[in-house]
Amino acid sequence: MPYDGRSVSATHHQIDLQTPSANYPIHIGPDLLVTLAPRLRKLTGFKSHSPRLFLVTSPEIWKLWSTTVLSSFPADGQPTVFLVPSGERHKRLPTVERLLEELAQAGADRGSVLLALGGGVLGDITGFVAAIYMRGIRYIQLPTTLLAQVDSAVGGKTGVNLAAGKNLAGSFHHPLAVFADTGTLGTLPPRELRAGLQESIKAGIIGSPELFHLLETRSDAILHPEHPEHADLLNRAVTASVGVKAGIVAADERESDLRMTLNFGHTLGHAIEAATGYRQLLHGEAVGWGSIAACHLSRERGLLSVEQAGRIERAILLYGPLPPFVATAERLVDRTASDKKNVSGKLSFVVATGIGSVEVVQDVTHAELLSAAESMLHLMRRQPKPPAQP
Ligand SMILES: NC(=O)c1ccc[n+]([C@@H]2O[C@H](COP(=O)([O-])OP(=O)(O)OC[C@H]3O[C@@H](n4cnc5c(N)ncnc54)[C@H](O)[C@@H]3O)[C@@H](O)[C@H]2O)c1
Ligand SMILES: [Zn+2]
Repeated sequence: MPYDGRSVSATHHQIDLQTPSANYPIHIGPDLLVTLAPRLRKLTGFKSHSPRLFLVTSPEIWKLWSTTVLSSFPADGQPTVFLVPSGERHKRLPTVERLLEELAQAGADRGSVLLALGGGVLGDITGFVAAIYMRGIRYIQLPTTLLAQVDSAVGGKTGVNLAAGKNLAGSFHHPLAVFADTGTLGTLPPRELRAGLQESIKAGIIGSPELFHLLETRSDAILHPEHPEHADLLNRAVTASVGVKAGIVAADERESDLRMTLNFGHTLGHAIEAATGYRQLLHGEAVGWGSIAACHLSRERGLLSVEQAGRIERAILLYGPLPPFVATAERLVDRTASDKKNVSGKLSFVVATGIGSVEVVQDVTHAELLSAAESMLHLMRRQPKPPAQP
């Protein structure tokens, strides 16, 4: 059941996520960073001169957003800032160790609060540091990419990559709150925005026909910052996407069947990322292709009508272009065997049973996966060559 965003004002929404281990608010709207300090005081009971706030971000994001973030803090109550280089390759244990040492040297104690300002990489690293520093301190997510706002900042999964694979070391540690300032999306490269919107489409497919309808009918505004309804509709899409994730996490905090539905499109999506060395496609773009393959499989099983599958495929391509890549269907299917969502040797696969409903199945055959991958590759080859993207 998706969570409905409570309107705090015409432009601000709040979703209160309740799980067995934590309850916390997710605030969504523009200008949340401008009013950050008073919001934090309310949440943490900090006095303005408290030295216990530590903000983790990257140089690029800090260059764009430091003035806005710091404007709400008094001169004698600024957070201590730690910079981490951006990029997935820094989501590794040495970065975590460095941050832990920096925190200790700066005198962070059990009452300290970390602020994670950035995309999913920054959020995952900072959340993990918060999970293990002094056996766990509080942290707040300030996601600045669409993917982080609709997905990674919500749900308490934190961690880093190992040489053997992505997100293999980590912990469940929920934030104290999430402030998703949709204004920060204004500086995001358009390609990152489009890729993040693939996760919103996924959210629509798994749990909200209304969100899916909004995305399939209003790409004119959602993709174009100069459109008068852009900010409002993007805000609505973020809120509805968070609502789907929050509804699932609330009902299934750890990874059993329901939470697994968030992996719609990810089985082949992860295989595509791995087959292309995690370099060529953004995560959301790989998920877009993976969702197209999952739709094909669902339609072949008679779970999805031709018309529904067509609508999903069109919506995904509307938020493209999805970059083409070189891989054979066999190679992609082989890669799915090592997906960590494999439970005791069986591959769990998320099929769509409608627009807004999915199911997890464990009996998907090699032949079905191959046919799904082949049909996706066939569609890819028919796409016009995309222009160079920023
Ligand atoms: N914890 C979870 O539940 C969860 C869920 C999904 C994904 N993830 C993780 O999230 C990560 C991907 O996150 P991502 O897509 O946000 O990538 P990212 O954090 O690498 O950010 C993408 C790029 O955008 C830049 N950026 C961020 N905000 C910006 C802004 N407002 N303006 C301009 N540039 C900005 C970053 O510096 C970076 O170069 C992966 O590591 C993935 O494993 C975690
Ligand atoms: Zn994803």
